[in-house]
Amino acid sequence: MEKDIKDLKILIDNKTLTSRIKELADEINSKYDISKPLVLICVLRGAVMFYAELAKYLKMPVKMEFVSLSSYGNSQQSSGKIKTMNLNLPSFKGENVLVVEDIVDTGLTLDFLIKFIKSNCEAQDVKLAVLFDKKCARKYDVKPDFSAFDVDNKFIVGFGLDYCGFYRNLDYIGYFEA
Ligand code: IMP
Repeated sequence: MEKDIKDLKILIDNKTLTSRIKELADEINSKYDISKPLVLICVLRGAVMFYAELAKYLKMPVKMEFVSLSSYGNSQQSSGKIKTMNLNLPSFKGENVLVVEDIVDTGLTLDFLIKFIKSNCEAQDVKLAVLFDKKCARKYDVKPDFSAFDVDNKFIVGFGLDYCGFYRNLDYIGYFEA
């Protein structure tokens, strides 16, 4: 790994992250009928911290599901190809589904996943919540329904986001200064 944690600068601290995620959960609560169950799909591994934090504040009955996909490998740029590690999802006939992802960059991963869920899982409704929207990098037509932060074209780590598999456990978002 050519990068060192001492060169990491803080972009968003934990307090700002968690209070914005709580706000986003309130927005999600207000957009759904909270008497109806919601299936929350976590896109592993990057969404793990955001998913756990967000789920704490949702008011409807929640079912937790997990898929595992990757498009970055060990690089700081999308490989342009999806690696699916686990896409075993049951039928969600008549249910509302909310896909929870760490960051939408080119949109390749979520374009693939949302199309997959819509054509295979019989959900009534499929929406998308992301922690970060890197709008300037978009190549596919993916528009999050709920987004906590916009981020410009820098590579960020922490709170689930990794570089070469590391830094996911940080409770803040950082970036490496060039
Ligand atoms: P996309 O398929 O190009 O939209 O890329 C989405 C995936 O790329 C995310 O789920 C992340 O795993 C990874 N990714 C994109 N930008 C970053 C970043 O700034 N830091 C860490 N991972 C990123």
